[in-house]
Amino acid sequence: MKTAIVLGTRPEIIKMSPIIRECERKRLPYYILHTGQHYSYEMDKVFFEELSLPTVKYNLDVGSGSHAQQTSKILAGVENVLSADRPDIVLVQGDTNTVMAASLAASKLGVRIGHVEAGLRSYDRTMPEEVNRVVADHISDMLFAPTEDARKNLAKEGIERGVTVTGNTVVDAVNENRRIAEERSKLMENLGLKAKDYILVTAHRHENVDSPSRLKGMVEAMEAVGRETGLSVIFPAHPRTQNRLKESGLSPRNVSVVQPFGYMDFLRMESHARLVMTDSGGVQEEACILGVPCVTMRENTERPETVAVGANMLAGTDPERIQVAVWAMLNRKASWSNPFGDGRSASRIMDLVEKGRGRFDAQ
Ligand code: UD1
Ligand code: UDP
Repeated sequence: MKTAIVLGTRPEIIKMSPIIRECERKRLPYYILHTGQHYSYEMDKVFFEELSLPTVKYNLDVGSGSHAQQTSKILAGVENVLSADRPDIVLVQGDTNTVMAASLAASKLGVRIGHVEAGLRSYDRTMPEEVNRVVADHISDMLFAPTEDARKNLAKEGIERGVTVTGNTVVDAVNENRRIAEERSKLMENLGLKAKDYILVTAHRHENVDSPSRLKGMVEAMEAVGRETGLSVIFPAHPRTQNRLKESGLSPRNVSVVQPFGYMDFLRMESHARLVMTDSGGVQEEACILGVPCVTMRENTERPETVAVGANMLAGTDPERIQVAVWAMLNRKASWSNPFGDGRSASRIMDLVEKGRGRFDAQ
């Protein structure tokens, strides 16, 4: 059973890393196909180095562009690779353009698709990620749902066969790397910070940062929260966000806007933060797993489990609403349990891949 692991962005590298490790451990035949959707050192190579991942066999180097440009380049590039080096199954993870285009290419070639983190829904079709995950789910043969909620979302759309609740590989990655991050990262000391003395912020969602008014709302919120809580605010900004801040002439006062962190630095900073403010999917999950309260600067989330257990509050991008949510979360006791599984998702997923029974197989 030869597996092609397709990835292209920061979260896909991190969440696929336990699966790559599992393939190595079980000595399964596999190769990594990188689309090159992310390519800057701090969005790509740093994770391969820190996580000691094997070199990718193919890199399509598609880079940035409009959705159609990026998607069409990935579609054609993945088709070339899969035709020349045909796997038995293609694994994709999450909801990026890489995921949708790679699964579409595999589907047209009749190659089986396994979707890791299947069944998430924000029910907001204005998000490119929502369309990507719906398409990928509907053409996948094997759907690895992280939670029971995700399985139910799929069932509502008539997808029941081929679905297994496996947990989310983000837990595997956190468990595998938390201690290593604690030993290796010295960023907190280098920034002169103490545990629980700072708020960690990330923001990159296109509907937030590409909207001047929402971007301004988030910046004002960061400034106000820093001022009122007396905590330091540390904001490792995604390149998309750095570009939008520059274009709009915004430079948040008393907020440390810095380059994106590597995974070890980010994980350690996140685990010792007093609170996290974010619009990221993966960061909502990690904060919940690490027992750090989270305020999500969005109107909805495809990770409702985090809100249900009391780890996360939705606050949109209005500065006053964000401040109210921050105070509420600062006063909340971090005693929730992690809804994303036991950290053995990758092993479960590769066992299922090896058994090889998919949704479109004859009964
Ligand atoms: C993409 C995903 C999003 C995911 C995010 C993870 C889609 C539609 N979006 O968003 O779901 O949450 O990755 O971080 O697939 N850039 C660089 N260097 C890089 C990558 C990007 O400078 O290595 C800049 C470019 O100016 C680019 C912009 O960031 O135009 C956006 O990159 P892109 O991959 O299109 O979308 P993301 O916002 O990263
Ligand atoms: N991350 C990181 N450095 C940073 C910010 C985030 O390593 O400066 C990691 C974080 O630990 C998480 C992942 O990137 O695992 C989340 O990716 P991102 O927010 O880009 O995408 P999303 O999860 O929203 O798709």
